[in-house]
Amino acid sequence: MISASAPGKVILFGEHAVVYGRPAIAVPVPQVRATATVEVAPGGEGLTLVAADLDREVSLRGSSPDDPLAAIARLTLDHLGQPEPDARLVVTSTIPIAGGMGSGAAVSTAIVRALVAFFGRELPPNEVSRLVYEVEKLHHGTPSGIDNTVVVYERPVYFVRDRRIETFSPGAPLHLLIADSGTPSRTKEVVAAVRARWEKQPARYDFLFDRIGEVVDEAREAIEAGDVYTLGGLMDQNHELLRKIGVSSPELDELVEAARYGGALGAKLSGAGRGGNVIALVEEFAADEVEEVLRAAGAKRVIYAVVE
Ligand code: MEV
Repeated sequence: MISASAPGKVILFGEHAVVYGRPAIAVPVPQVRATATVEVAPGGEGLTLVAADLDREVSLRGSSPDDPLAAIARLTLDHLGQPEPDARLVVTSTIPIAGGMGSGAAVSTAIVRALVAFFGRELPPNEVSRLVYEVEKLHHGTPSGIDNTVVVYERPVYFVRDRRIETFSPGAPLHLLIADSGTPSRTKEVVAAVRARWEKQPARYDFLFDRIGEVVDEAREAIEAGDVYTLGGLMDQNHELLRKIGVSSPELDELVEAARYGGALGAKLSGAGRGGNVIALVEEFAADEVEEVLRAAGAKRVIYAVVE
């Protein structure tokens, strides 16, 4: 049996503006992962794809062209120049679905890696990332490419669309709490709604995207310098700008306020928004206290992640 996996991710700074060419910063969250296993099946059966957590099973042959599991399997087979194998591919994941944590990109990455290993082949990360990006388009419409990049490279990334990928290391560990609002974040719809508003008021939105881009660049300096106090303030500023572009919600604002009240250095929504997660930057000693306040404010799940 062949097995492969990929981590979740969070966007620290720059979501949405990144779709319009501004920079963004994302980090992997290896505490949650998607895993794909492939085993040989009886001859003639073809490839069966099983999403074990969702109780879903599709055969490659019977699947619709826009089924994301089948799409990534088909793209991978074509890329490798391999015919459909007689095999059973099972996917499991601990990454919250529709939480802005890259669950779709991680599932696709795990599938590509498992199939590549099944055929005894190797693919460089840029090719894995490109295949996953193709399927991200089915999930998201106009993705920037940041999700597939951070999930595949499994390193903190400073990402600008269509530019060479830059990975980097924090000057001091970042202690993050990732709190799930329990409301799904529908990336495709939220990204499309932002686009509609940008088309109506391009000058206003371009100004806000520029401001976000400036915050991202300051944040990168603060991360590399290990200056978590400056970084916390920048998270607060980024959240305000995301509110202005209309992607927060009363629930997300409440979690952000609760985190700050509990002693976080800064907090913001992460990912597409209108639901999904908020992230809070904390000092290690304050993590338990902030987690408690987040739960009291309604967080359905809190993940503690240290980025090094
Ligand atoms: C989604 O994880 C992040 C967004 O910026 C969309 C994208 O970059 O494709 C909202």
